[in-house]
Amino acid sequence: MSIAKKFMGWVDARFPATETYEYHMSKYYAPKNFNFWYFFGVLSMVVLVNQLVTGIWLTMMFNPSAEGAFASLEYIMRDVKGGWLIRYMHSTGASAFFVVVYLHMFRGLMYGSYKKPRELVWIIGMAIYLCLMAEGFFGYLLPWGNMSFWGAQVILNLPAAIPFIGDGLAEWVKGDYIISGITLNRFFALHVVAIPLVLVGLVFMHLVALHHVGSNNPDGIEIKKLKDKNGVPLDGVPFHPYYTVHDMVGIVVFFMCFFAVVFFAPEGGGYFLEKPNFEVANALKTPAHIAPVWYYMPFYAMLRATPSMFGSALPGVIVMFGAIAILFVMPWLDRSPVKSIRYKGILSKIALAIFVVSFLILGYLGGVSSTPTGTLVARICTILYFLYFILMPFYTTMETCKQPPERVTGGGH
Ligand code: HEM
Repeated sequence: MSIAKKFMGWVDARFPATETYEYHMSKYYAPKNFNFWYFFGVLSMVVLVNQLVTGIWLTMMFNPSAEGAFASLEYIMRDVKGGWLIRYMHSTGASAFFVVVYLHMFRGLMYGSYKKPRELVWIIGMAIYLCLMAEGFFGYLLPWGNMSFWGAQVILNLPAAIPFIGDGLAEWVKGDYIISGITLNRFFALHVVAIPLVLVGLVFMHLVALHHVGSNNPDGIEIKKLKDKNGVPLDGVPFHPYYTVHDMVGIVVFFMCFFAVVFFAPEGGGYFLEKPNFEVANALKTPAHIAPVWYYMPFYAMLRATPSMFGSALPGVIVMFGAIAILFVMPWLDRSPVKSIRYKGILSKIALAIFVVSFLILGYLGGVSSTPTGTLVARICTILYFLYFILMPFYTTMETCKQPPERVTGGGH
């Protein structure tokens, strides 16, 4: 027996290394018909690693104080060797994270990946999404630019909309009467330690849950139903080597796009790094136009478009958080007998199309100054957004679906 084999035997008797590797890689049978949309899970992991690594490096040189934060970032950008690259990889990485995660979520909606038995995969995914939003928000205050300050001002005043306890709560969250170095310090702690820990834990659980039930696929049929005499799904291929090699292609193409942005357009036309953030935070100088980073824009548009009640922004806050909360119950709203949009009826297809268009329009409106027409359109799109979910139990049972095939279609691996 070779030394390597002996060594692995010694390890395996004490730690399930080979067993874990086989369970998750060489004997994890993934459907052979994965398509383009199945790249975004692995890409989310790639971006997560990028954020963790570049984040640790930034932390080495960043000064988390109101006096020093902005200057330390200038120092990283100008004086630290390769500092600009690390910083732009992190700031572009934040936007890349949301690009890949939004596409990953859309795939889930299209192929019904949230339906039984993957409800928990979806719910853990939604918890990840919430963490990502929090992580982005906390991170955005850290450069202590003027948009960091004023953007946080808008969001940190939202708790004040809650009756009775609101004002005290807003003060408690900030740790001060205004957004100050104290707020910056706690955001730093949350951004670099607390949320990343939770995020990594949730991603781990996401994959454990997924590998327990097995992956869905573009046909939305369960490959575990048809197995050969060895118990291997007929339409499955071992994750390693087939999908590890396949995913490498996606990762390389992704890096080509990612670094094109990092090198040639790191500000993303003001969408990834906003112009006012090149000035230090100034409590006496409100930016002409306060807008959140692009990935929050649809929800910001909903917040702005919801009429206030007795001068309170509470309805807007409820609508904004409700828009995210409703996604958690997706598995129970969809009553369709089939999973994939390929075999659902026309109503589901129209509903999904309207939902996507409304979300995109809301995203656009959240980034421009509000006008009466814009507000009206945002209200209509907000209603359409919610109708997609609220009417789902009805249109998914009313329509006629196509009969899905016995075996998966396509997939020439
Ligand atoms: C850091 C963020 C995330 C990471 C690293 C991640 C990772 C992954 C990976 C590697 C897979 C398997 C490959 C694939 O199917 O693409 C997967 C599947 C899945 N993810 Fe995520 N995910 C993340 C966020 C989310 C979010 C926000 C949701 C939705 C709310 C979500 C829902 C799902 C679902 C439903 C599946 C199963 C898909 C299927 O089998 O068709 N994930 N995820």
